[in-house]
Amino acid sequence: MHNLVILTGAGISAESGLATFRGPGGLWEGHRVEDVCTPEALAADAALVHRFYDLRRQALATVQPNPAHEALARLDREWPGELLIVTQNVDDLHERAGATRLLHMHGELKSALCALCGVRQASPAVLPPGTECGACGAPAMRPDVVFFGEMPLGIEVIEAALARADLFVSIGTSGAVYPAAGFVQTARWHGAKTLELNLDPSAGSVFFDESRMGPASALVPAWVDEVLGILAPPR
Ligand code: OAD
Repeated sequence: MHNLVILTGAGISAESGLATFRGPGGLWEGHRVEDVCTPEALAADAALVHRFYDLRRQALATVQPNPAHEALARLDREWPGELLIVTQNVDDLHERAGATRLLHMHGELKSALCALCGVRQASPAVLPPGTECGACGAPAMRPDVVFFGEMPLGIEVIEAALARADLFVSIGTSGAVYPAAGFVQTARWHGAKTLELNLDPSAGSVFFDESRMGPASALVPAWVDEVLGILAPPR
């Protein structure tokens, strides 16, 4: 075993105190997704959309990485083979724990995107609609998050990693949102083993060779110990 691809979702940050999307107390409970997470919503009510993400960005200051993020950061440091951690999360807890081989496929709260010229720059804690772009000057900075109906980021890099993966691991995601929900099938098709670590079985649970149910803060460190115990052979 040499090449690992890990997909994470909101469940890995739940024990840090960040709300997941679905289920009781989930973020979408208080909002209809089409009101806050679509290009149409941004055009119709930019203040509402920006406020939703401002609150989530501000919440980052109150939370810390948990043992699951820390275990993946350790894996990132110590795994001698290829590794890609693909996160659907827009929080920064993976990088704050120290992970570097990381791809934010749904964007990042800490980043702002110019809707006109596409430049990315660091987002202030509060990003008012009409904020001017530092590059082109247009009053068009928006949260750098992928809305429903937009292309996720880094798909070519992810597809290439999935094609080479020996093991695909999905952590803390409901498997409700594509294309991430389909990565398990892509990985399988290319011959990878597949493992799910989640509190409840995800929508695509049947596609995994193995499913372990429980909190990420317990399951992930135990799995990382296990996988580092069978270090990748040199190629
Ligand atoms: P969801 O809220 O859909 O799913 C969270 C998953 O985490 C569920 O399956 C829970 O059972 C599990 N979970 C909760 N607490 C856990 C814990 N302590 N340990 C392990 N697992 C736990 O979140 P995502 O699957 O990440 O997209 O949602 C996917 C995408 O839907 C998000 O990236 C977002 C949303 O719409 C965009 O905004 C584009």
